[in-house]
Amino acid sequence: MRPDSPHPPAATRRAFLRWLAASPVLATLHGCDPPDSPPGAAPSGGTTLRPSFDPATLQPIPRAPVTTAAEALDVFDMERVAATTVPTAHFGYIQTGVDGEETQLRNRAAVEAMHIRARRLVDVSSLDMHVTLFGREWPTPIVIAPCGSQRGFHAEGELATARAAQARDHLQVLSTVSSTAVEEVNEARGGPVWYQLYATSNWDVTQAVVERTRAAGCPVIVLTVDLAVGSNRVTLARWSRMDDRDCRGCHRPRGEAPTVKPMFQGTVYRPADFRSPGMTWDFIGRLREITDQRIVVKGLMTHEDARIALDRGVDAIWVSNHGGRSEGSGQATIDALPEIASVVAGSVPVIVDGGFRRGSDIFKGIARGADAVAVGRPYLWGLGAFGQPGVERVLEILREELAVTMRLAGTPSLAGIGESSVGAG
Ligand code: FNR
Ligand code: LAC
Repeated sequence: MRPDSPHPPAATRRAFLRWLAASPVLATLHGCDPPDSPPGAAPSGGTTLRPSFDPATLQPIPRAPVTTAAEALDVFDMERVAATTVPTAHFGYIQTGVDGEETQLRNRAAVEAMHIRARRLVDVSSLDMHVTLFGREWPTPIVIAPCGSQRGFHAEGELATARAAQARDHLQVLSTVSSTAVEEVNEARGGPVWYQLYATSNWDVTQAVVERTRAAGCPVIVLTVDLAVGSNRVTLARWSRMDDRDCRGCHRPRGEAPTVKPMFQGTVYRPADFRSPGMTWDFIGRLREITDQRIVVKGLMTHEDARIALDRGVDAIWVSNHGGRSEGSGQATIDALPEIASVVAGSVPVIVDGGFRRGSDIFKGIARGADAVAVGRPYLWGLGAFGQPGVERVLEILREELAVTMRLAGTPSLAGIGESSVGAG
């Protein structure tokens, strides 16, 4: 079958997706060389990435097939499965960043480029990974980032994620563009999630949504400020073109009124309201006037904005570039973290996300000044691959990897991880 065939017949679609899973298209997205390229070769993004080759034999490192969630050895095992189970266009939606993926790759490459400075002969027989955010203690600093439309990846969508979050006791942040309403998610989670807010340009809509989440008991609003306008999602467009399904069952054809996401139902929302290009820092004050929920601002990348956010009285700062899905800045979140953490200086919690794929990455995020580290794509891969057990396994993998890293690095508590725990290059 020709790999460039735009419409693979349904019968061969699975094989086609398997081929894609091993192809440069996918490889350049998650930071591994394709198995059939020479060791050390740089993908089209131009970033030199860690090869998937055994340095001794120069052969591709095989990955054992994964047929159950429990068999996954790292989050990339989940990615490979999800590439075969999630519909092509929807998988493209997970994977996409913007432009030529420079920013998404940079997030990952910058984390990988750092090293851990391991200390020896420290008693690591007991471990303390807990973090307290707004008075609630969590057993680990690993947070489930808000990601929209999860029913597009698995039939149970956000409910599967919520059940996994409950089973493993992780903080879950629910997207405004969730495919499931907040009340149902809270029930599945066994308690209120944090709610991520897309402001919209219609204050009546914003007010109604915020009031609904307050009534549902959500203690925190995470205001996302890095996607007030649309972004250039080339990878999504490419993968969508390769999807030959009839999508009209879920997506309305152009010209017809689109389906309204659950959190906008019952409001005066119109699709044209979704973007908020006119939003400014004054929005924080307006939000403060209508709710007593904590306000976290998500999407900051500079110390200048962190300063303003603190002056405006936000309760926490979330360093993020939307997983490389907003502007193609080329700036990695872990590189922006220290300047923001130094302005914040412990006055409010700092959360970071973008390219964190292993426990050692999470360790590095904490070392550079974050109180908690959020993941997006890894748990979506787990969800798409196996539903709730997949999300649970991803959380378990990251937690176990972080625990091993902390022990081997001689830092048995999160408080002991600091700038001197890591080095550049
Ligand atoms: C996201 N992200 C996101 N952010 C947000 O504030 N609201 C949202 O609805 C979404 N939706 C969304 C969908 C998908 C498919 C992805 C992959 C991401 C961004 C997300 O919260 C987080 O910032 C990034 O995913 C973190 O980067 P990694 O871990 O995916 O590299
Ligand atoms: C995204 C939006 C929904 O990143 O936040 O796709």
